[in-house]
Amino acid sequence: MPDGIFFTTPIFYVNAEPHLGHTYTTVIADTLVRYWHQRGRDAMFLTGTDEHGDKIAAAAANAGTTPAAFADRVSALFRSTWDRTGLRYGWFVRTTDAYHRTFVQRVLSTIHARGDIYFGSYTGLYCFGCERFYQERELVGGACPDHKVAPTEIAEENYFFRMGRYQERLLALLEREPDRIVPDGYRREVLALLREPIGDLCISRPKTRLEWGIELPFDDRYVTYVWFDALLSYASGLDAAGRFDLWPATHHLIAKDILKPHAVFWPTMLLAAGLPLYRRLCVHGYWQMNADKMSKSLGNVVRPLDMQARYGMDAFRYYLLREMAFGQDAEFSEAALVTRLNAELANGLGNLASRVLAMQQRYVAGEVQPRAPEPVDEALHAAFARAANEVDDHIPAFAFHRALEAIWRALDHANKYVTATAPFSLAKDPARRPRVGAILHELCEALRTTAQLVAPFLPETADRLVAMLALPPDVLGRLDLPWGEAFAAGHRTRPGEALFPRIDTPPS
Ligand code: MSP
Repeated sequence: MPDGIFFTTPIFYVNAEPHLGHTYTTVIADTLVRYWHQRGRDAMFLTGTDEHGDKIAAAAANAGTTPAAFADRVSALFRSTWDRTGLRYGWFVRTTDAYHRTFVQRVLSTIHARGDIYFGSYTGLYCFGCERFYQERELVGGACPDHKVAPTEIAEENYFFRMGRYQERLLALLEREPDRIVPDGYRREVLALLREPIGDLCISRPKTRLEWGIELPFDDRYVTYVWFDALLSYASGLDAAGRFDLWPATHHLIAKDILKPHAVFWPTMLLAAGLPLYRRLCVHGYWQMNADKMSKSLGNVVRPLDMQARYGMDAFRYYLLREMAFGQDAEFSEAALVTRLNAELANGLGNLASRVLAMQQRYVAGEVQPRAPEPVDEALHAAFARAANEVDDHIPAFAFHRALEAIWRALDHANKYVTATAPFSLAKDPARRPRVGAILHELCEALRTTAQLVAPFLPETADRLVAMLALPPDVLGRLDLPWGEAFAAGHRTRPGEALFPRIDTPPS
């Protein structure tokens, strides 16, 4: 089996329905898995739902139902949204799954037996939105920087994980291996956190206050609380999928809101549990609307199924991947999505495909003609070869926007090639018909290569292009296919259709 690679999205809370933020991380995971599959790597991604804790119990009470029924409904909604939008997760974990509970209890017992969990009393400032205690210096104007509400002071007896014991080891590791957290700005943020005392981590809730959790194996009066439960779902899910062999190749994809739990709580937990550390933490920024983070509590939500119905999933994927520079924040705007759809997808790619395939029908009855490459043809081929190399440079660095830019530079070259070689004019002269056939052959190769290049990002478009070219679907994985060899003599393409109809009514 070739080198494996494993990605995770966060395990999403079930107190909100799937929105743009959740979709972005999941689209990235899907794109990366498709990209590595195309390169013959054994790759999968895991997603799922985070279902225990105070705020889920509160949301269920609000909805007049039990936490279990509430979680069942919203978890199913996440799963069906990813199914309907073609985001192909390899495993969907629920923190209420029985195998997950067993896994968490086993890890708790191990860490308890090592003396890294103790009982104590604590008074602290708790944010219910983040499901964690805050230190005074982390607050902004006395409020949680994310939820913008003052935390609640809570005093109770609880179990604590001796996180501080592992601080030095973690700090040394992150200093020694700079690529463990990317982009580097987030690693520096974590190093700063680790240079201050991190203290210990409260991991339980008394059942008198919260029952909706996983019971501690060493004290049935308590349940474990959100982070100790949810983070372990990455490992419990992979184990349940029968793929724990991939664990050392784990890449966690998250937004910056949950950096501390993933960069500080989680690796110290893994060290204490004697489990191998994950390979890399990949942190992206926020999608904002009018400069605020999108979230249900702020009421500015974009739903993936609405976007799919309005523009098609590939157009939505394209916008997300092209607009955001991984690591930085981006502003979501439906008007900007429509502008890109019309200019880059409908004009840049869609028009090229329909024009080439229409000319192919009209001038050579759809039949691919022999090549006789001229310098202008070699330059077209070189533009696509360059794009392919650039994609391979940018994807391992999570620069999706740069990868798409590179592909669109090649498409731009192809559009200029059509104008420069002008097959529609040459076709008027019967003596030039062989050259017309040769030009269209080059353009069919350009479309075939485009299908391969866009496949990880725009999977439906790739499939449709391949169908229009009448090539077998597995051509998408044949990256080694030399230019000029995709079409056998006498091969017939199909008439072109509009890949991306223009949107003429601006969104309200
Ligand atoms: N349940 C925890 C995570 C536990 S992981 C072991 C949680 N859930 S969440 O539903 O709030 O999801 C947060 C994640 O959703 C972010 O880290 C990011 O992946 C995605 N996003 C949610 N809103 C977002 C934006 N506005 N912008 C970009 N991504 C965001 O935290």
